[in-house]
Order: sequence, then C-alpha cells, then structure tokens
Amino acid sequence: MGNIVEATNLKKVFEPDIVALDGFDLQIEEGDFVAIIGPSGCGKTTFMRMVAGFESITGGTLMFEGNPVESTDYNRGVVFQDVRLFPFLKIEDNLKYGMVTRGLNSGKREQVFEEIVDQFRLEEFLSFYPHQVSLGTQQKVGMARVLVNDPDLIMCDEPFNSLDWRTREELQRRILELWKDKGKTIIYVTHNVREAVYLAKKVVVCTVRPGKVKEIVDIDLPDERWLPEVRLGERFLELVRQTADSLKDEVIKGRELENAVGY
Ligand SMILES: Nc1ncnc2c1ncn2[C@@H]1O[C@H](COP(=O)(O)OP(=O)(O)O)[C@@H](O)[C@H]1O
Ligand SMILES: [Mg+2]
Repeated sequence: MGNIVEATNLKKVFEPDIVALDGFDLQIEEGDFVAIIGPSGCGKTTFMRMVAGFESITGGTLMFEGNPVESTDYNRGVVFQDVRLFPFLKIEDNLKYGMVTRGLNSGKREQVFEEIVDQFRLEEFLSFYPHQVSLGTQQKVGMARVLVNDPDLIMCDEPFNSLDWRTREELQRRILELWKDKGKTIIYVTHNVREAVYLAKKVVVCTVRPGKVKEIVDIDLPDERWLPEVRLGERFLELVRQTADSLKDEVIKGRELENAVGY
C-alpha cells in the first residue's frame, strides 16, 4: 500500500516569529494508525490542521493521496478536542450537515448515516439539540458527524480529554474497531503515552518546538488491544516505558526553554 500522507521538510511559521514546525518529515501509509505525541506547543495541532487544509504551509511539501494539500476536503475528517456542534441544529441535522452540503445521493447517505447512528448508539438523541445532551454524547456526535462522510483519513486532536473514563473507553474501542473493520487511516494526537501505545500501530514522538519527528516507536501488539492480556501485558508496559523515555527528554528541554525565557 502507498503513502496517504507525505510531509517532507515541512515548515510552519506563525508571523512574526513563532516557528511551530521545521524540518518535519513523516510518511503515513494507507490504513495505518499513527499516534502523534510530543510536548505541549510542539506543533501537533498545527500539523493536523495543515493536513486538514485549515492552515497554510510556510515551506516544504505536504501531500495527501498523491496531491499537494491546498484546501479542506470531506475525505480528510477532523475530530476536534472541543466539539463545536451547531447549537441551533438538532443532533440529526448536525450529523447530516456535511453530507447535505456535499450533495451525496440520498440512498447511500441514509445507509451510511444509519450505520453510524447505530454504531454510536445515537438513535434516542437525534431530535435533541446539543445543549440537551451530555458532553460525552456531544463528543460521540462530534466523531460520528465526521464518519458519516466516510473519509479515507480520520484525524483526532486529543478528542477524549474531557470525558469520563467509561465514555472514553467506549470511544477508544469504537475507533479501534473502525480502523480494523473499515481500513481507515487514523492520525491520533494525544499527550498521553498510555493512550498512544494502547491505540496506535506507530507512535510518532516529536521534539520540542520547532517540532520535528524524533522517533517512531513500532507498537507490535495484537490488534485486539482491549483484551486484558494485551493491555496489561509485559510488552505493553515496555512500549509505554520506551515511549515515555523518548518523550521525557523533550518535555525537560521544553521546561528549560520556558525557564530561560522567563515564563
Ligand atoms: N494561530 C496561531 N498564531 C500564532 N501562534 C500559534 C497559532 N497556532 C499555534 N501557534 C503556536 O504554535 C506553536 C505550536 O502550537 P500547537 O500546534 O497548538 O501545539 P501542540 O498542539 O503541540 O500543543 C505554539 O507555540 C503555539 O502557541
Ligand atoms: Mg494541540
């Protein structure tokens, strides 16, 4: 399989002088599950926003499915940390918004819609407005509304931070199933080492700002991560330790930098 995303010597400067990314190289294979981890402010969100087409490129190249990224596209879906549903639309219309503006034929649209509503158990909430449902349900809708567009690439930016652990586990499981059953490519940004190792096939550790790739840790665990023998096993802990060690140096450098400039 080919690369779905290719970043080569990618650079992003926020004017006047914040260099968020510099010399950022990363190839992501079609069907891969990649977690990106790095100290706060190292450019994880910026990279994801660039792949999504929300953010311009200062230097280097960024390709998606063989073409330079120049605009947004429903084929590259983003699940944000803060959900940002349309408050004036019912859950059902929030979910259908992308499909409707894109004008997919309605037979196919209904079929995908029903599949996702069922998978995320959202049936009973369809006629509610966002403020009438829990934060956990809002976040499920936030993920489901990306999936109804059936994107090849799904990007998640620390999506489950503010959720209780049960909802968090449920959504982690959904995303693992989605990856396995539907062959989607997933980029998952997190600052949690355990979450990264638990979910991904590869964990990309980034340096302190300006962010670049420091190390890619291959997660050679079976796909059924939720099994106790996998998630509590010796290999899992080893991988967590290895990733945490790599990240630790960067976090320390980040703190030193902060102290030096007197934050
Ligand atoms: N729109 C913006 N304007 C100016 N600076 C920004 C903007 N967005 C992000 N930055 C800066 O770029 C750096 C990387 O930010 P970000 O990608 O959000 O980091 P991360 O997600 O890894 O915590 C930070 O120093 C941040 O303050
Ligand atoms: Mg971020």
